[in-house]
Amino acid sequence: MKIVVVGARGMLGTDLCQFLAQRFEVLGWDIDEIDITNRQRTHDLISNEKPEAIINCAALVNIEACEAKPKTAWEINTTGAQNLALAATHIDADLVQISTDYIFDGKSDSDYDELAEQNPVNQYGRSKLAGEKVIQETCGRHYIVRTAWLFGHSPDNYVMRIVNAAEIDGVVQMPNDQLESPTYTYHLAEAISRLIDEGTYGIYNVTSAGACTRVDFAKYVLEEIGRSESVKVIDSSEIERTVKRPARAVLNCERFEHLTGHSLPHWQVGVREYLVKEKLLFRE
Ligand SMILES: NC(=O)c1ccc[n+]([C@@H]2O[C@H](COP(=O)([O-])OP(=O)(O)OC[C@H]3O[C@@H](n4cnc5c(N)ncnc54)[C@H](OP(=O)(O)O)[C@@H]3O)[C@@H](O)[C@H]2O)c1
Repeated sequence: MKIVVVGARGMLGTDLCQFLAQRFEVLGWDIDEIDITNRQRTHDLISNEKPEAIINCAALVNIEACEAKPKTAWEINTTGAQNLALAATHIDADLVQISTDYIFDGKSDSDYDELAEQNPVNQYGRSKLAGEKVIQETCGRHYIVRTAWLFGHSPDNYVMRIVNAAEIDGVVQMPNDQLESPTYTYHLAEAISRLIDEGTYGIYNVTSAGACTRVDFAKYVLEEIGRSESVKVIDSSEIERTVKRPARAVLNCERFEHLTGHSLPHWQVGVREYLVKEKLLFRE
């Protein structure tokens, strides 16, 4: 099976290419090879290559950037998704679209399942939700994978931000106003591979097990690598996180688990595996 991964040099795309290459022919394309906002070029590239599946990890993910430039967010997260859906439909390929817990407002006390009402509170969430909808309308052979708070092997990921803050500032400052499931990209890559194997199209929530706040996460990372710096709780505005975010965006992943018979490991297992791979921890 030939698979094109778009956004291949991003945090998820990197792990996905590595994981899928064990079993499939994988072409990793990023902005240098394909600009998904360009409809004709996207169509031509996909038509020439004729993959059986396309996985779209390309996005404008930075929440503040999406708010400051909503048109750009829309072009990449919505029109870009539509362009890939049109190209996929043209060659009868499967399309896997990576989506987000930010399509919800985070006001629910219970975990969101795939049928829960969406109500994004910022431009990122709005553009990603619109991306889901255009794919549903355009391409029958789609999987929409809603995930959350990714950490993987890219330089500025959340784990490294914590490690660097401890090292440089001697204290880690974190807001305490969000509950989510931190998800290790390598575990998510494996889950996406399992979904493709199943061949049952639709929307799936896929995150690591468990949920925590940024403060809990930072404390856990520091504890695991044996650092004694403290974690200071601060207001989001103090670290220039002025754009509204969902407060409790925990996803119910039962549909994915039921279909595949597989659950992602707990986020703490993901953190430990990440730290071992980065040689920051020498046991799992
Ligand atoms: N990060 C999270 O916490 C999180 C949480 C939930 C869901 N998600 C979703 O998961 C997916 C992957 O996220 P990620 O964190 O791995 O993102 P990422 O690291 O920012 O990777 C995205 C990649 O897409 C590329 N790209 C941007 N615009 C493009 C375009 N027009 N055409 C082609 N490539 C383009 C980016 O290149 P440049 O870097 O050069 O712009 C980057 O290499 C996204 O769909 C995101 O919405 C992420």
